Amino acid sequence: MQIGIAGLGRMGAAIAARLMETGHTVAVWNRSPEKAKPLVEAGAKQCATPEDLAEQSEVIITILTDADAIDHVYNGEHGMLSGDVADKLFIEMSTVRPEIPIALAKVVRASGARFVECPVGGTTGPARQGKLFGFMGADEGDAALARPILDQLCRRLEYVGPVGNGALAKFTINMPLMIYYQALGEALSMARAMNLDPERLMDIMADTSGAPTMMKARAPTVAKMLKGEDPPVTFDLSGCIKDLQSMQAEAKARGLTLPLVQMTLACMEEAASKGLGGKEAAMHSVYWSRK
Ligand SMILES: NC(=O)c1ccc[n+]([C@@H]2O[C@H](COP(=O)([O-])OP(=O)(O)OC[C@H]3O[C@@H](n4cnc5c(N)ncnc54)[C@H](OP(=O)(O)O)[C@@H]3O)[C@@H](O)[C@H]2O)c1
Repeated sequence: MQIGIAGLGRMGAAIAARLMETGHTVAVWNRSPEKAKPLVEAGAKQCATPEDLAEQSEVIITILTDADAIDHVYNGEHGMLSGDVADKLFIEMSTVRPEIPIALAKVVRASGARFVECPVGGTTGPARQGKLFGFMGADEGDAALARPILDQLCRRLEYVGPVGNGALAKFTINMPLMIYYQALGEALSMARAMNLDPERLMDIMADTSGAPTMMKARAPTVAKMLKGEDPPVTFDLSGCIKDLQSMQAEAKARGLTLPLVQMTLACMEEAASKGLGGKEAAMHSVYWSRK
């Protein structure tokens, strides 16, 4: 199938590589064109504008930073909806508030195209291996069209109802994880006085009832951070802050009270103010453990 990917950040690049591996013809576009180089060398076609990308693709996947980026790529000058997109399928995978895909779905459908949102759990490794957890919000007919492609990206794909519910599901699963980074930092600050080797300490932490699944894979990386290493970034602290701010805004609009979200956000903003915004998210726990 002709698949276009707009947004070759950490996730978009991994998704593009995965879809090429599964046999699709992949075209790509990114705001900073140089990021396409490894994919082009592997056989992807680079497009000059989002409009060109949409024109050349049957299915177009977007995974971008935030609402502004989505607006730029879909509705901006030479945006994806500038040309004739009738009958094409757009799959939007960014983590944003539900109102964003709900509004986008209306514009896309008005252009005669189909729209599915599918934000994901899991980071770059699972994206590259097709082992994400997808939360699909769509009309049932559009969901059925998107499923065969998303099944190649996801180890588990949950259809959660109409567009907007995918975004809500993503907030629901991300919230405890974001709060866990703060909880881990506080726990590690308590552990400091024992002077245990970081690898042993993280191995213990990962083997307890309080550890999220994430720790099974990430505990050794946190141990390295505790030893002063600065590992490659898969999801950065700024992304956590963006997600927590979005959750807080969503909660306010729904009359919900989320005190732990509020406190975690304040603690992460403090860490970002010390220059950690671009670092791996778990670096927040390490920062807090040393306070
Ligand atoms: N990383 C993860 O583990 C993970 C997991 C699940 C979900 N997510 C979500 O997936 C999305 C992407 O995450 P990521 O980690 O891949 O982010 P990233 O590496 O920072 O990439 C962000 C992408 O958005 C593009 N972009 C930003 N602003 C733009 C604008 N105004 N116009 C056009 N393009 C713009 C960037 O283009 P440039 O290259 O030109 O900057 C880049 O392609 C986010 O919503 C994130 O919350 C991430």
